[in-house]
Amino acid sequence: MSVERTLTILKPDCVKKGLIGEVTKRIQEAGFRIVAMKMMQLTPTTAGGFYAVHKERPFYGELCDFMSSGPCVPMVLEKENAVSDFRALIGATNPAEAEEGTIRADFADSVGENIIHGSDSVENGQLESNYFFAESDIVAVKGV
Ligand code: RTP
Ligand code: MG
Repeated sequence: MSVERTLTILKPDCVKKGLIGEVTKRIQEAGFRIVAMKMMQLTPTTAGGFYAVHKERPFYGELCDFMSSGPCVPMVLEKENAVSDFRALIGATNPAEAEEGTIRADFADSVGENIIHGSDSVENGQLESNYFFAESDIVAVKGV
């Protein structure tokens, strides 16, 4: 297994519910190193660019509105096998179908408002990191 990077976003519902600390703790306790993070508010256009792969889907407009509805917290995470391990940590897109103990099962209200994003491939992890961060924003973190 090799060290990978994945991009997560603590979505606006996570921030509004006061769960930044709780969710970040779970991420770190699962062995992910945070190598970049910031708080920002997306516009509908920047949210739409991030989720451009879904632009033909019926939920795209709602998704862009939700993702720009308040501040969010993008982070770049590193770990061996980060992409698939992170998807396992967050659980299925629909929290009703997410495995017990996953972040979405424990904190999300609906498929539309599901607390957290995770990249779905190593390639997308890199592209998505580049969407929010310059390479010079990424720090080297050892032993955390
Ligand atoms: P994400 O990209 O945010 O990590 O979520 P995901 O891979 O688990 O799911 P994806 O298929 O990429 O969908 C992106 C986001 O769109 C919203 N969605 N709404 N109403 C719906 O049926 C529906 N389906 C997807 C969710 O917020 C989902 O996380
Ligand atoms: Mg996705």
